[in-house]
Amino acid sequence: MKTYTIALLPGDGIGKEVVPAAVRVLESAAQGFILSFTPFEWGCEYYLRAGQMMPADGLDQLRPFDAILLGAIGHPSVPDHISLRELLLRIRFEFDLYVNLRPVEILPGLQSPLRWKKPEDIHMLFVRENTEGEYAGLGGRFKRGTADEVALQETIFTRKGTERVIRYAFEQARKRPRKRLASVTKSNAMQHAMVMWDDVFSEVARNFPDVETARYHVDAAAARMITAPESLDVVVASNLFADILTDLGGALQGSLGLAASANLNPVARLGPPVFEPVHGSAPDIEGRGVANPIAAIWAASLMLEHLGEAETAARILTALHNVTREGHVRTPDLGGNNTTEEFAAAVIAKIQTAAAAS
Ligand code: NAD
Ligand code: IPM
Ligand code: MN
Repeated sequence: MKTYTIALLPGDGIGKEVVPAAVRVLESAAQGFILSFTPFEWGCEYYLRAGQMMPADGLDQLRPFDAILLGAIGHPSVPDHISLRELLLRIRFEFDLYVNLRPVEILPGLQSPLRWKKPEDIHMLFVRENTEGEYAGLGGRFKRGTADEVALQETIFTRKGTERVIRYAFEQARKRPRKRLASVTKSNAMQHAMVMWDDVFSEVARNFPDVETARYHVDAAAARMITAPESLDVVVASNLFADILTDLGGALQGSLGLAASANLNPVARLGPPVFEPVHGSAPDIEGRGVANPIAAIWAASLMLEHLGEAETAARILTALHNVTREGHVRTPDLGGNNTTEEFAAAVIAKIQTAAAAS
């Protein structure tokens, strides 16, 4: 039987709670293929023991897997700029996972805090540039700790990097009913990088005459997400802009615990794709077993879809939607009092009922 090898990187905090929940859902749904999971205990606890976020050959260990399912990295015991850069960002950069796909949708039965909008008004797909921009990591601190200190954080935009992510976004827009693509810019203030971004967007647009385009400065885009979310379909943005706007997207969905993402390289394989929630390790609620596992379960479904198991991916989403639609089982972030485990069990029960009926 076809076997997919999955590296599990639960990481830190609630990552260690939501990934096992998603794995149980995956195991209950897998039909006609085998998922072979290998856990990796890399994260901040590992760092405190080993002095590094992963072994020196960590990326080589991950490379052969078909996919990575990641929870969240980061803990107050280790500076974020070390933990995130040495693990999560390294994987994204060194495997050249240049597309970060982040759907923003209202799940059945749930309500957006935008009470005056209908659920169908909020249906966006963010395509986040994931390998350069503000995250490039080049720079330094000069005369550290003195009154004359200088800190440089270089932003890198390459034509190749900009072009490939914008092209991918156009391809996604073309596949959707509304065929709209909005580009997020800030060319009124950033006269080099963002003007090139705009130029490349216009150039690529010529190859997609069937896609309706718009261009918004990032500040206006943030406001538009609240005032007119129905005007947004696919949205393409640089690394930092999309990072910020997709937490706003999670909030629009009703909780950060709902927002899922896929890190992909649709063209070349330098390593496996990574599927993860948008949220972090949530130290404020870790260890209580109440984290919402929806983002992780949704990310797991995106993973199956990407592996070519669209039918099982859809069965998981249907089961998830049936649980949210009924509204009996909800974690505290959605106003309920159920646990992570109880929510996952409810999804598994729906999967089993559907399997028994078919
Ligand atoms: P966060 O996303 O962890 O938490 C923000 C808020 O949302 C918190 O109040 C948290 O309780 C809530 N929340 C998040 N996910 C939830 C869920 N599944 N269910 C219920 N509530 C949820 O953001 P933060 O507090 O800024 O960051 C905490 C740590 O996580 C930091 O170390 C940060 O760098 C890291 N981080 C990691 C990732 C990642 O690994 N992909 C992403 C974001 C932040
Ligand atoms: C995300 C996270 C990461 C990012 C951080 C933790 C480095 O916020 O995946 O959205 O900014 O990309
Ligand atoms: Mn983020």
